[in-house]
Amino acid sequence: MKSILVTGGAGFIGSHTCLTLLENGFEIFVFDSYINSSKKSLKNIIKILKKNNKDLESNLHLFKGDLKNVRNIEAIFQAALKKNKAIEAVIHFAGLKSVKESIVYPCSYWDNNVTGTINLLKIMEKYNCRNIVYSSSATVYKVKSNKLLNEKDECEPVNPYGQTKLTIENFLKDIFNSASSEWRIACLRYFNPAGAHKSGLIGESPLGKPNNLYPQITKVALGKMSEIKIFGSNWPTPDGTGVRDYIHVSDLAEGHLLALNYLLNNKPQILTLNLGTGKGTSVLEFIRIFERINNVKVPFSFSKRRDGDNAIVVANNSLAKSILKWIPKRNIEDICKSGWNWQLKNPNGFNK
Ligand code: UFG
Repeated sequence: MKSILVTGGAGFIGSHTCLTLLENGFEIFVFDSYINSSKKSLKNIIKILKKNNKDLESNLHLFKGDLKNVRNIEAIFQAALKKNKAIEAVIHFAGLKSVKESIVYPCSYWDNNVTGTINLLKIMEKYNCRNIVYSSSATVYKVKSNKLLNEKDECEPVNPYGQTKLTIENFLKDIFNSASSEWRIACLRYFNPAGAHKSGLIGESPLGKPNNLYPQITKVALGKMSEIKIFGSNWPTPDGTGVRDYIHVSDLAEGHLLALNYLLNNKPQILTLNLGTGKGTSVLEFIRIFERINNVKVPFSFSKRRDGDNAIVVANNSLAKSILKWIPKRNIEDICKSGWNWQLKNPNGFNK
């Protein structure tokens, strides 16, 4: 059984990926600071598995710590060795992820995301672990037109969060070039993650008021927020509102599993892949579909465009499809249904 370190494994995408890894026979070592996540997500993963008659609790090991502290990272590699289960690969989710916050606290973003990743790679090198799947973002692209974005397109992030994501991708290229016959690296650029596991036991649980559209829609539907403010009604799109590529979190989780297996079963290489559906949905369409599927009301009003926004951000996902044989299986209706199921069962997310 292969041992995988998952940094940030208690978070939204991390927890769904941990579940998928356990279901597929991996032993996982989760490292999380819980500053933006909850241990309850990991407890609920065990519940989901038990409901399916799988008792895999002994394959999940939890470590609380911070990537800024190399000793915290080393402790996991040591613990795995003691169990005779050397860490074979890392899936690296941990990091700060709010665009807005990154503009106010750039030091914190560069320190957590970039320094944290450098620390992680130092320890990986020390323990001869040279396989990593990295959580990048479509936010690295310079969006110039409305065409589907592909991995060769120009990158030029417009905020500190995006800068840290691209800097880490570049750092991983340097790491690869330093020993290209040894490293296996995949940078996965996510488009707009949304939805929740079908059980309603794990999902997105933002602290405070969410900035992204999807968690706001569920909060408005629940009556915890009065309305959605739609940022702009005059974008060059069919209905004038922004178009994005919303990808179901369970499809993303499966993308990580496939990327990991691909790396472990192929020659050393570095890959950069978009994980998106290739299909755009406008803000108005998203709201309308959510209302129809769940039979709820999501009031909205129009306000001015948000700084740094683009009209259309949609993935060309043909590379991930051809290399990983990854096919997103869930559509926007599934996102609306599963997200609402999670929100109804957990009105406060994992927060009290
Ligand atoms: N939007 C609104 N009102 C809101 C929030 C969003 O109208 O209150 C609109 C935006 O203008 C945009 C769409 O909804 O058209 C989606 O916006 P999000 O904030 O949900 O997502 P973004 O596409 O701006 O950015 C997200 C993440 C980034 C990530 C990026 C990848 O926030 O972290 O997707 O493309 F990098």
